[in-house]
Amino acid sequence: MTSLPEGFARSMVDWQRLHGRQSLPWQNTQDPYRVWLSEIMLQQTQVSTVLDYFPRFLARCPDVASLAAAPQDDVLALWSGLGYYSRARNLHRCAQEVMARFGGAFPRRAEDLQTLPGIGRSTAAAIAAFCFQERAAILDGNVKRVLTRVLGYGEDLAVAKNEKALWALAQDLLPTQAADMPRYTQALMDLGATVCLPRKTQCDGCPVSGVCQAKGKGTPLAYPVKTRKLKRSSATLWLLWAVNAQGQVWLQKRPDRGIWAGLFSLPVFDSELDLLAAWPQGAQAQYIAPWKHVLTHRDLHLHPVRMMGRAAQAPACEGQWIDAGAWPDMGLPAPIRVLLTSG
Ligand code: ADE
Repeated sequence: MTSLPEGFARSMVDWQRLHGRQSLPWQNTQDPYRVWLSEIMLQQTQVSTVLDYFPRFLARCPDVASLAAAPQDDVLALWSGLGYYSRARNLHRCAQEVMARFGGAFPRRAEDLQTLPGIGRSTAAAIAAFCFQERAAILDGNVKRVLTRVLGYGEDLAVAKNEKALWALAQDLLPTQAADMPRYTQALMDLGATVCLPRKTQCDGCPVSGVCQAKGKGTPLAYPVKTRKLKRSSATLWLLWAVNAQGQVWLQKRPDRGIWAGLFSLPVFDSELDLLAAWPQGAQAQYIAPWKHVLTHRDLHLHPVRMMGRAAQAPACEGQWIDAGAWPDMGLPAPIRVLLTSG
């Protein structure tokens, strides 16, 4: 049995009031639309980047009804550069389900929030805690690190039953007063982001170092334990960068599944031969130096080939000519955007 640290929730709440982050644009609101949007953006993106995207997204889609009604291409364009585009597609679907299933009002309980696209158990709990003071535990990557250290929980989190046990412990640690839930939840996030860091800990600034098992044993960096390694793969993509006499670029909308789903991209080919077959008349192919673009599960080796052509010609692949003035506002994968900007 893991014993629970005394006074944990109280210490966390008191610390957050004095030392936590207080004025991020998604704090000091109980609007579930704003909290949900920020939590989805913050899942794989750092705060400094979200500070830029969050207000822009809200200016275009100020509420769940406007997001649900927006064309998918507009949503992907607003997301462009944040990466992990399945988040944007789920965001859009989620807004539409909130309209259709819940009459435009987010459900209040974590259990119901979790039934919506893109809202996992931890995100559901964060929304329910911040907006509706529900006693629901969050457990994202940062919080797993904080709690396994405080509890000295050394079981392998790659094993489902151990992760489940940690969820139960996270629930046991919650404040007894529901009114403390927003600040407690923010405290866990803030501690994980600013004090209880993956490779260096700042135990001197930690409100719970006195009850921290990992600190007591002198081995905070040994937690959390997770054995299963991410399986990585790699792919080689040949990119046709066709430009016509007016400086327009041939872009195609990617299919709904697979790499860069739903975004606009240069046409992608598996091999140089396939690429050359799509535009045989392309004189003076200019081979751009290939580079590696690193995604979470995959390395992409990108090989762009730039070809100039006459206005009447079009590559033998799906797509359309797009004015140079138009693509900055479209949803493009970050590496394609960088490439086009460079030329
Ligand atoms: N990361 C995830 N959620 C967050 C929040 N509400 N504030 C700051 N960072 C976060």
